[in-house]
Parts: sequence; C-alpha cells; structure tokens
Amino acid sequence: QMKSLEDIFEAKIARDEKIEPKDWMPEKYRKTHIRQISQHAHSEIVGMLPEGNWITRAPSLRRKVALLAKVQDEAGHGLYLYSACETLGISREELYDQLHSGKAKYSSIFNYPTLTWADIGAIGWLVDGAAIINQVPLCSTSFGPYARAMVRVCKEESFHQRQGYEIMMTLCNGTQEQKDMAQDALNRWWWPSLMMLGPTDDESTHTEQSMKWKLKRKTNDELRQQFIDQTVPQADILGLKVPDENLKYNNETGHYNFGDIDWEEFWQVVKGHGMCNKERISARKNAWDNGEWVRDAAIAYADKQADKEVK
Ligand code: 3HC
Repeated sequence: QMKSLEDIFEAKIARDEKIEPKDWMPEKYRKTHIRQISQHAHSEIVGMLPEGNWITRAPSLRRKVALLAKVQDEAGHGLYLYSACETLGISREELYDQLHSGKAKYSSIFNYPTLTWADIGAIGWLVDGAAIINQVPLCSTSFGPYARAMVRVCKEESFHQRQGYEIMMTLCNGTQEQKDMAQDALNRWWWPSLMMLGPTDDESTHTEQSMKWKLKRKTNDELRQQFIDQTVPQADILGLKVPDENLKYNNETGHYNFGDIDWEEFWQVVKGHGMCNKERISARKNAWDNGEWVRDAAIAYADKQADKEVK
C-alpha cells in the first residue's frame, strides 16, 4: 500500500541517504536542525571575539598572520552554517535576532576570557581540538547542507588545532615563565573544553532523538572520552600537567578515567552568568548596529545590479 511520507523519510535515514531541504521532513526534525545549526553558527561568530582580542598583540608577524587567518575562517564557518540553516526556512535576520536577544545559545566555551597569549595556544589546541572531535562525525549527519558544510569546516579546523599546539610547544620549550603561562592556560581551559561537548548522555535533552535521526553519530560522552584520550598524551609531550588528579589511564577499558565535571558551572555559563557572556553579546549587538550601513549599501548595490539586468 501507499508508503506514508514518514515511512519514506525513515527509510532514507535508515539507508544513510541525505535529507535535502526540499524533501518532506518531520516538523521536529526541521526544528531541531534549526536549533543546532543556528547555535553552531552563533558559536563560530562569537568564537571570533576571544581570539580577535589578541590579533594586535600577537608576538610575531607569523603568529599574527596565522591568528588572522583562523579568525577569518571562523567567520566563514559561521556563514556556511547560517546558509545551511536558511534552507530550513528561517531568515538570517531572525537568526541574528535570536542571538542578540539571548533566545539562542552559543558554545559555553566562548564566555571565558583570553588573559594571556598562551590562551590563544590553548584555544587552538583544546577548543578547536574538541570542535574537530565533534565536527568530524557531523560530516555524515543526515541533513545534506549541514553535512556538506562540515566537510569544508573540518579541513580548516585541523590547521587551527595545529597552529594552537605549535604555540603551546614553543612556550613549553621556552623560559620557565613561558612554561608557567602554558600551564596556567591549560589549567583554565581544560574543564571548560570538556563541557563544550554538552551534558552527560543521561542529562542530555536531545541526544537520544538526535542519534535516531542520525543528526548525531556519536553521543556527548563518547565524544568527550575520545577528546580526553587523544589530548592527554599531547599534554604529556608538552610536559604539562592536566588539572585533574583523578585522571588515570585504565588498562582494562583503554580509556582515561577522569574526575567530575562541575555541571553547576556549566549551566551557570549556559544561562548567561559566565565571565564574558554580557561582553560577548554586546560586542555582537554593536557589530550588528554599526554594520547596518554595510548591509544597506550591499542591498542598494544588489538592487542597482538587478535593475541593470532588467533594462
Ligand atoms: N554550550 C552551550 N549550550 C550547550 C552546550 C555548550 N557547550 N552543550 C549543550 N548545550 C545546550 C544544548 O544546546 C541544549 O539546549 P537547547 O535545547 O536550548 O539547544 C542543552 O544544552 C542540552 O544539551 P544537549 O546535549 O541535549 O544538546 P545537543 O544534542 O544539541 O548537544 C552539542 C550539544 C554537542 C553542542 C550539539 O549541539 C552539537 O554537536 N552542536 C554542533 C557543534 C557545535 O555547536 N560546536 C560548538 C563548538 S565551537 C565551534 O565549533 C567553533 C570552532 O571553530 C572552535
């Protein structure tokens, strides 16, 4: 008998086929993708702020060029993701309004301050490291535009992670003061980086459904464990100590056991009470207001071009 639209959709998901914007999809599938993709895009754009703070203070031209390229990449990642999100029927203006009004979330990690140059190394190494762990599985997510955006993003992220790790390596091979700066940055960025991957699976609102829809291909805890297992040996090579006295390699499981995450801190930051939340949102609002003339000029120019074609 006639297959329902739902059956056709489910069969596509089961066959690992991509769902494209024009395909029928359950309203909840659409909504959760607008939620996740928009918050991913907001994270990229807000993520430019902590790093942007150090572009004029980079210790060498080479470091400045790499940081400038990375921040510019993040803007591009945001634009790919906003475009992917718009295919689900939401406007760019609405997306920005959700960020500026506090309605939409962005990654908690960007609400922490960048206090020293070593933070730029820690962000590239840890934050982009965790982002890569999170984004590689998203390359095979079921929604076509999101999966395709991720392929491009992941290529650029690996450069981001490498330049960060190189900064840390340089500091750790430097003076005692530089080593201390690197250790201080690891101390401040380790736990917030673990929180980036979201609440534990049993606390996660969306993981179960997102796994069924193949939006998520790995759970929050699986990604977090993968990040820890990959990163601890990198800290050992740097000669830095991960700030977790419960961190211990478990020969049975082949994974590291690790200490309790402060989920109270996580939810405080997600709810807007982190160290830099207000500063980040007002920076974005100022950029939006101060950039109005650019948007108007671009639209005026586009209209003129359109008129020319018509004549
Ligand atoms: N910061 C802020 N909010 C978070 C969060 C975090 N680190 N982790 C989870 N949350 C929110 C979720 O958005 C959800 O709230 P909502 O219902 O209002 O959206 C709630 O906490 C419950 O969490 P869930 O685990 O149920 O939510 P998800 O299933 O969406 O999982 C996620 C969270 C793993 C972050 C997932 O959304 C995801 O993979 N997103 C895409 C990747 C992404 O956004 N990465 C941002 C990192 S920064 C980055 O990539 C830029 C790079 O260039 C550095």
